Amino acid sequence: MSREEKKTRIEKLRSEIASCKRCSLHKTRTHTVPGEGDLNAKIMFIGEAPGKNEDLQGKPFIGRSGKVFDKLLESVGLTRNQIFLCNILKCRPPDNRNPLATEIHACTRNLDIQIKVIDPQVIATLGNFSTTYIFQKFNLALEKISAVHGQVIGVDTAFGHKKIVPLFHPAVATYNNSKLNVLLNDFCVFKQFLEKNKSF
Ligand code: URA
Repeated sequence: MSREEKKTRIEKLRSEIASCKRCSLHKTRTHTVPGEGDLNAKIMFIGEAPGKNEDLQGKPFIGRSGKVFDKLLESVGLTRNQIFLCNILKCRPPDNRNPLATEIHACTRNLDIQIKVIDPQVIATLGNFSTTYIFQKFNLALEKISAVHGQVIGVDTAFGHKKIVPLFHPAVATYNNSKLNVLLNDFCVFKQFLEKNKSF
């Protein structure tokens, strides 16, 4: 798909998300947070849901977790312009509570379209919710994130071969410093990926 076509599809999706009322989160949101980044990104990161700052500004990962995320990207020489960053939910759950199964069910058609259109080679999941969804979507045996974090799992999908990289959510590093080291270590897989894809 050409960049122009991708842009048209992603902009259409953005406006559909902006007026979405598929679940009750539309009643409490300030802004929707569809996600952003390079439409030709080789790596897509999927977080959980917008928090307070993201809801206020309509952008993903701009609060405390976002600072950790930027540090992790920087540690492997990546910038936000080279990746696509989004969440499993496009609206903030009140008081940052966990996403409900019904909300995930209502929202994942948006993520599915993003994956199909952007067509990344690597899908990195941040935290339990996106990991569970992506494992189920690609028929991978569900495992606890503590057992699989940092692994690179190859899957053949309807739209080609993909690598799935499950990771802890950056929020864990805001209250547990040893988890920051685990995340930094896990992010090294992207260094290897970048080495292999020099033109990236
Ligand atoms: N946590 C997430 O999972 N996503 C955001 O955008 C912000 C915090």
